Amino acid sequence: MRHFKLLLGLVIVLLYGGCQSDSRIKIIKMGHAQVTAHPVHNAMVYLAERLEEKSKGRIKVKVYPNQQLGTERELLELLQIGSLGMTKVSAASLEAFSPEISVLGLPFLFRDDQHIDRVLNGEIGTELLLSSEKFWLRGLCFYDAGKRSFYSKTKPIETPADLTGLKIRVQESKMAINMIRGMGGSPTPVAYGELYTALQQGIVDAAENNPPSFYNSRHYEVCKFYSIDEHTAIPDVVLVSTVVWDDLTAEEQQWLQEAADESAVYQAKLWKESVEESMREVEKAGVQISYPSKEPFLNQVQSVYDQVKKEQPQLAGLIERIQNTR
Ligand code: GCU
Repeated sequence: MRHFKLLLGLVIVLLYGGCQSDSRIKIIKMGHAQVTAHPVHNAMVYLAERLEEKSKGRIKVKVYPNQQLGTERELLELLQIGSLGMTKVSAASLEAFSPEISVLGLPFLFRDDQHIDRVLNGEIGTELLLSSEKFWLRGLCFYDAGKRSFYSKTKPIETPADLTGLKIRVQESKMAINMIRGMGGSPTPVAYGELYTALQQGIVDAAENNPPSFYNSRHYEVCKFYSIDEHTAIPDVVLVSTVVWDDLTAEEQQWLQEAADESAVYQAKLWKESVEESMREVEKAGVQISYPSKEPFLNQVQSVYDQVKKEQPQLAGLIERIQNTR
């Protein structure tokens, strides 16, 4: 079924292209993997509204949710060839396209929310957004994706030892794979849209995500233990294909950038409300929430840092700059 939907989506995209235009109206197609109840979807709809208003109806963004047009990795590939105009993916999915951005997937990288804000909304954030431009992917803004924690079908994850023998779903990210290995679990990459079934069928025993994604994906129906260890704080990124970007006039580019920035402010507000609501709702649905000590998890992940610095020494300076941001 998913393959049929994917094929149908691709046919639509390929027929109409990443940015369809007649002499007056440009339509930019934007695909993403989240469900429509999720705050990031609403933020993208808001981006579309703002852009339409700024351009007086001359540029429209059409949002395709639910992995209709492909997984995050597939969406990025469509952007690269200009068959899709825009997307919103997790920074973890960008890992293969921008080594610099991959550092955002390092466990326990940030001290607190203020640290995240200073990095992403400062000079480093701008550099990271533009780091994938050479691969035809231009980052416009970050969306808050909170912090990721473990949820499991069988038991709470109180210490890294609880991960032993468990198959943990990870994003398609080497960093995430190394992190789970470092903590002692067995990492299994699964696309987000297939995770509900993978959990249900026991292909994986556990996963990890932020509260709005745990709730809106309905994974809480299968996983009754949510252990808030907050091992990563990987943001989402809104991107435009450089094929589409280069086709816009300077004024249109400015409108798009402004609309994206405004949508990020709106998304941050939606995010806070959504985290609270999600925690309330999963608890109501019988999920046992626990707050394990972070220390033992933190102590297990030094190997992830060592490996990055060994395999990609050019990222060491960036990691240090992030750690030294005050
Ligand atoms: C987060 C992120 C999504 C991503 C998902 C995942 O929810 O916002 O973009 O798809 O994590 O775990 O795959």
